[in-house]
Amino acid sequence: MYIIQDGRFVFANHRFLDRIGLTEDELLNTDQYDLIHPEDSEMVRQNAIEMLKGIRTTPYEYRAYNKAGEMMWVAETVTSIQYQGRRAVLGSALNITEQKKAEETLKAQKELIDNILATIPDAVLVVGRDSNVILANTAFYDAFGMNKREVEGRPVSEIILAPHLLKSLLKILLDQEPQINLEFKQELKGNAKTLVVSMMKMGEKGALLILDNVTEERQKQERLFLTDRLSSIGEMSAGVAHELNNPLTGIVSLSQLLLESNPPEDLREDITDIHNEAQRAASIVKNLLTFSRKHAPVRESIQLNRIIEDVLLLRAYEHKVNNIKVATHLAPDLPEVVVDYHQMQQVFLNIVLNAESAMAEVKNPGSLIVTTRRLNGLVTVSFSDDGPGIPQENLHRVFDPFFTTKEVGKGTGLGLSICYGIVTQHGGKIYAKNNAGKGATFIVELPVDSQ
Ligand SMILES: Nc1ncnc2c1ncn2[C@@H]1O[C@H](COP(=O)(O)OP(=O)(O)OP(=O)(O)O)[C@@H](O)[C@H]1O
Ligand SMILES: [Mg+2]
Repeated sequence: MYIIQDGRFVFANHRFLDRIGLTEDELLNTDQYDLIHPEDSEMVRQNAIEMLKGIRTTPYEYRAYNKAGEMMWVAETVTSIQYQGRRAVLGSALNITEQKKAEETLKAQKELIDNILATIPDAVLVVGRDSNVILANTAFYDAFGMNKREVEGRPVSEIILAPHLLKSLLKILLDQEPQINLEFKQELKGNAKTLVVSMMKMGEKGALLILDNVTEERQKQERLFLTDRLSSIGEMSAGVAHELNNPLTGIVSLSQLLLESNPPEDLREDITDIHNEAQRAASIVKNLLTFSRKHAPVRESIQLNRIIEDVLLLRAYEHKVNNIKVATHLAPDLPEVVVDYHQMQQVFLNIVLNAESAMAEVKNPGSLIVTTRRLNGLVTVSFSDDGPGIPQENLHRVFDPFFTTKEVGKGTGLGLSICYGIVTQHGGKIYAKNNAGKGATFIVELPVDSQ
């Protein structure tokens, strides 16, 4: 505490003197502004005037020096008083250096945390105990396509929609579990994504969520899994097929011989049945053998348009009698790809046969559209039908060996798994999707530089 009159110190208590390290005499000969940091002196003058006029009520902060030249932060209040019969200013200055240092450390820490959050490539979300979001990082806003206003302070259930995740998060917020990792699906920016979240208790404050987008990995795993399954089923079926091939050939040719030897009429029908069924079984076995064929295909450089035209020609008669209209949009400048002609023919034929039976199911005059395109380094072929389409849950399963919706005896469910095997061996991709209107589209993509 000190008193100033006519711009000079006239009194100071011991605490004040101790703090600035001057004796009373030294202080009385000091101009108060000599003790103030030059950058702050004008501000101090203005604030002191405002405070004396009653405009300002909160203490003002400035930098001051003690005798040793050490800087300190001061929070000052002044009031107007009468001292020895004349107007004077009573000042009281608090040393807030420690507090200022703490504030600065806090600010620096906050900046550091902000920087860390901005640099972390994973999306981070901090949720308070009240289930409202405290903060998120840049990666989170990018991934979720949201901004700060839509996230901070909002209930987490408006941002993350998976019920099982919210339930687990609650367990963490209620201190029932320290950490939970789980996987969930959510549409982000209009696309279905798979995310892995690591949720951790964050002291008393709430929970920290670190989210990782694993959509691509999961898709890759699914494809690998399918390829794996295909190859093990392939090995198994190769063995079975070889075993069945010989006896079946025997049944087919012996029943043929029997039929040629003019059997009695009552037996002829049964023998014909035996012959036809054995032939059907033989063709299934042939399919199995193709499916499990191990040898490398013979590859040559071909324009896929040619193979497609051959396949359509092969089915032209059936299309005509079954009232199926076929339209082709074949890119004339389609680059050649290196493929095995017979295998590719089989792929396209299987797809066309499937489309035929799908369209026959809904009994309209069918329409099949075949399109070839060049797309970046790929050649794509699509077959679009106007059949019933494929239920969403079956879109991937149709490529599984033995997956069929046809009645017993009508289909083996091997057609598309053979296609899958062949296309994958060629370094390409095959997938199905439903058309916006009706029907399904099968797409085959092959790399132009495939070996
Ligand atoms: N164009 C399509 N439209 C609707 N469903 C389809 C289409 N193509 C295939 N499917 C579905 O995929 C299943 C599997 O096809 P896949 O060719 O592997 O076997 P399949 O046709 O049933 O039998 P196979 O080919 O041995 O005669 C079909 O049973 C059918 O349910
Ligand atoms: Mg088929």
